Amino acid sequence: MQTREIVLARRPDGKARADDFSVQARELAPLQAGCVRLRALYWAVDPGMRSRLGGVRSYVEPVALGGVVGGAAVAQVLESRSERFVAGDLVTGLLGWREAGDFPEAALKQAPERGTMPASALLGLLGTPGMTAFFGMRDVGCVQAGETVLVTSAAGAVGAAAGQFARLMGARVTGVAGSDAKVEWLTGEAGFADAFNYKTIDDMAAELGRRFPEGIDVLFDNVGNRMVDAALPHMKVRGRIVVCGQTEDYSVAPQERHGIRNTSHLISKRLRVEGLLAYDHAARYGEAIAQINTWWREGRLVVREDISHGFDSLPAAFVDLFDGKAFGRRLVAASQVQGLAL
Ligand SMILES: NC(=O)c1ccc[n+]([C@@H]2O[C@H](COP(=O)([O-])OP(=O)(O)OC[C@H]3O[C@@H](n4cnc5c(N)ncnc54)[C@H](OP(=O)(O)O)[C@@H]3O)[C@@H](O)[C@H]2O)c1
Repeated sequence: MQTREIVLARRPDGKARADDFSVQARELAPLQAGCVRLRALYWAVDPGMRSRLGGVRSYVEPVALGGVVGGAAVAQVLESRSERFVAGDLVTGLLGWREAGDFPEAALKQAPERGTMPASALLGLLGTPGMTAFFGMRDVGCVQAGETVLVTSAAGAVGAAAGQFARLMGARVTGVAGSDAKVEWLTGEAGFADAFNYKTIDDMAAELGRRFPEGIDVLFDNVGNRMVDAALPHMKVRGRIVVCGQTEDYSVAPQERHGIRNTSHLISKRLRVEGLLAYDHAARYGEAIAQINTWWREGRLVVREDISHGFDSLPAAFVDLFDGKAFGRRLVAASQVQGLAL
């Protein structure tokens, strides 16, 4: 059987471009014992992948030049030589940008219980974005009923989930997003108490002063240093800053990033700033999945997806993320998904 893979043709310089990637075809060898052959249905398109394209090791290995671009996917088992999976099973894992491939059973997870949610939710509310949002808000942000919460990139996969979870935990949530349509969606469908478009304001620090006259208890930040710096003076005593993502900074060399200067507030307000890694909480994903499924069944959560179709659209879908063009959880669906009840 033939597959196609998207490989890193060149390390991006600054913002990634679609021609940093190329597509190659490959013949799959006969399936080995203990392995399954998968066909991808949905690929996740995540800003965090940008930091893996630069060749610097972080908590995951960088993508090698000429190597298949990594990333989560939902796939269907085509053929199995494993005791754990049978043909037709839905699985998730870090399967990379490939149409089909063979994987050892240990690399795969059986799709969790998803009730009436579509299979794409396995890369959204029930996948890494949902887990990040849940544990980031509950266990790192330690959000409490009645508190004030600020979420950035609030219309994205993680931000929209984080803001809604905080609301369901009893907080008053304000979202920051990059278009008026996103702001309208946040305060309408997604139930945020307040939201604003950062592209139409001149002074973020002054805006936060107006929106949070009593201060911020929890900042859940997805964008990076500039935002954290602007929020520091507006944090309440014993406030928490959850450093979840740095979308604005991923494509910028460390020496060129915005600095964090308002550090005296760390002392005067006794603030806690903590980096979040969803995978640290993997042993307890079941708790989050049960709670999210309950909220979903009760009709208290909304999801917005931004899905492109066809394997070849992956590089463009990724590059676009950094122009703010995605509105909701960005995914690419394989062409055969259209028409399947998933
Ligand atoms: N720590 C963890 O374990 C973990 C796990 C998953 C994801 N993450 C991180 O969480 C963050 C959110 O992930 P996501 O998948 O939900 O992606 P996302 O927020 O949907 O990312 C795309 C959005 O980022 C915003 N953006 C792009 N460039 C920006 C810039 N220069 N400044 C400000 N905003 C910009 C745009 O929205 P606007 O139109 O609103 O600007 C864009 O639509 C990412 O940084 C990701 O790496 C962390």
